[in-house]
Amino acid sequence: MRALALLPAAGSGSRMNSATPKQYLDLNGQPLIWHTLAALHAVPELDRIVVVISREDEWWDGSDWSAFTRLTVLRCGGASRALSVLNGLLALHDAGEPADDWVLVHDAARPCLDPALVSDMIARLGDHPVGGILAVPVADTLKLAGEKQAIARTHPRDGLWQAQTPQMFRLGPLADCLRAGMGPDITDEASALEKAGYTPQLVMGSPWNLKVTYPQDLQLASLILAAHAE
Ligand code: CTP
Ligand code: MG
Repeated sequence: MRALALLPAAGSGSRMNSATPKQYLDLNGQPLIWHTLAALHAVPELDRIVVVISREDEWWDGSDWSAFTRLTVLRCGGASRALSVLNGLLALHDAGEPADDWVLVHDAARPCLDPALVSDMIARLGDHPVGGILAVPVADTLKLAGEKQAIARTHPRDGLWQAQTPQMFRLGPLADCLRAGMGPDITDEASALEKAGYTPQLVMGSPWNLKVTYPQDLQLASLILAAHAE
């Protein structure tokens, strides 16, 4: 079984309010994405780690990535996350990567990933007919907002999970489903598979595996990485 990681890293990080895209912001002395790559590089089951950056990226070349020996960089980012992933998959396919390889799509913006969680996911899903995603059960009570932010109602949280990454699917079906289902409703890989009628599996993730979206998340990620380095 071959498995590779694909990191969409072509976003602009608009919610971070920073001129530098968040994946290149300093996090404990390294660019944020360096930590994401280090986590994936520590997963022995991953044969390759492929990063998709923007064609206009001005930051990637400013750092030394030579520590990551299984790394490939593709300058084929798209206008949305789903397009960046699809472009990366198509480039891999054109380069001869087999359609039944497992691809673990992981947000560059999730730097606190535990490598053991990825090995566990690969072991659990390696024989699965479709694949699946890391996710965590929703912990907070959910409110539906009505007019003027008045509570319209409480939404039952039973059975609700928050999707994380990695999301692990086979290269061929994932590319086909993303291409066929492309649209604003496709906010992760699993949603494209679901739209095509497949039933992906939920695998327990971790609250540490946060996505850096807002400035406060960067502070949290810094604390998590420092605590785990001790
Ligand atoms: N991403 C990408 N190509 C895009 C948009 C996003 O590769 N056109 C990547 C981001 O770089 C990030 C991951 O997808 O690693 C998750 O997306 P998100 O957190 O939404 O990042 P941004 O789109 O950069 O941030 P924002 O939505 O705040 O602009
Ligand atoms: Mg975004």
